[in-house]
Amino acid sequence: MLGASYDELSLLTPSTQDLAPNIKMNIGIIGCGTIGSELAKSIEKFKDVSIVALCDVDEEKAKRLLIQLSTKPQIVGIDRLIEISELVIESASKHIVKEVAEKTFYKGKDLMIMSVGGIISNEHLLKLAEEKNCNLYIPSGAICGIDGVNSASIGKINSVTLTTTKPPKALEGAPYIVKNNLNLNTITKKTIIFEGSALEAVDAFPANINVAASLSIAGIGAEKTKVKIVADPNSSKNMHEIVVEGDFGKLTTVTENLPSPNNPKTSYLAVLSAISMVKKIVGNVKVGN
Ligand SMILES: NC(=O)c1ccc[n+]([C@@H]2O[C@H](COP(=O)([O-])OP(=O)(O)OC[C@H]3O[C@@H](n4cnc5c(N)ncnc54)[C@H](O)[C@@H]3O)[C@@H](O)[C@H]2O)c1
Repeated sequence: MLGASYDELSLLTPSTQDLAPNIKMNIGIIGCGTIGSELAKSIEKFKDVSIVALCDVDEEKAKRLLIQLSTKPQIVGIDRLIEISELVIESASKHIVKEVAEKTFYKGKDLMIMSVGGIISNEHLLKLAEEKNCNLYIPSGAICGIDGVNSASIGKINSVTLTTTKPPKALEGAPYIVKNNLNLNTITKKTIIFEGSALEAVDAFPANINVAASLSIAGIGAEKTKVKIVADPNSSKNMHEIVVEGDFGKLTTVTENLPSPNNPKTSYLAVLSAISMVKKIVGNVKVGN
């Protein structure tokens, strides 16, 4: 444009109206319980986010959340939610992960999953995300150290062990407890309740041990990741200790989680992790790994 006059230049400069509007990512949330509600209330304040749809098997929960939001998303079913969202967030249950992920990826949309156990029971979903060129986001949830495990997995990892300690109340209703007829009220001291692979752990404790699934995906897979679950009647915290050994050396992290106020099964850090993941997705500065 050398030699162009001021008038010519101003013709080429877009007016404020012509500038692209602040483009917002349209987000739909499936599951309006503890995580979905806190997440929605936080991320609607992000300048790059627009919550366009909510879905819950219990419509009252979606309605309860809706009235707490300043934006007014539609309350819809899963198919419609995927249709109108660019990023689908699942914060509902392990049991709907397969359906939601398949529908989302076949529509070419991105997905963030909180019920991570549903991914390791359906590992083809990882491949499907690649095939359809869709992003699958898995927040660290209630554990710290996933960044280090991601890095370590570029080299060789020899072992990954997760020890999860929870108050007995937080384990109530888990299929493993019910099936083995375990009476959690009789536990008076720290007791190992379960030992096995991460794959076995997510079936035995689907609502309690998503961290084992995230750790497996970041590390050496669900069959090789060892999990120990301990019930501690003297603790009010959900504690996760991970130990990873490999070519890089040894990594140990201990996370002492306070439960979220509305759901003793869900650590507050998991809620914060979900919010932080969305911040990372829409933000320009990305820290870690
Ligand atoms: N990744 C992690 O570290 C981590 C940590 C805690 C919880 N979680 C998982 O995240 C999910 C949400 O946790 P939460 O604490 O918000 O649970 P929550 O029970 O408070 O809320 C779940 C919501 O999903 C709804 N729901 C259940 N099945 C549904 C379905 N088929 N379709 C639509 N809605 C459905 C429920 O009605 C409820 O409102 C759970 O699966 C939980 O195991 C993951």
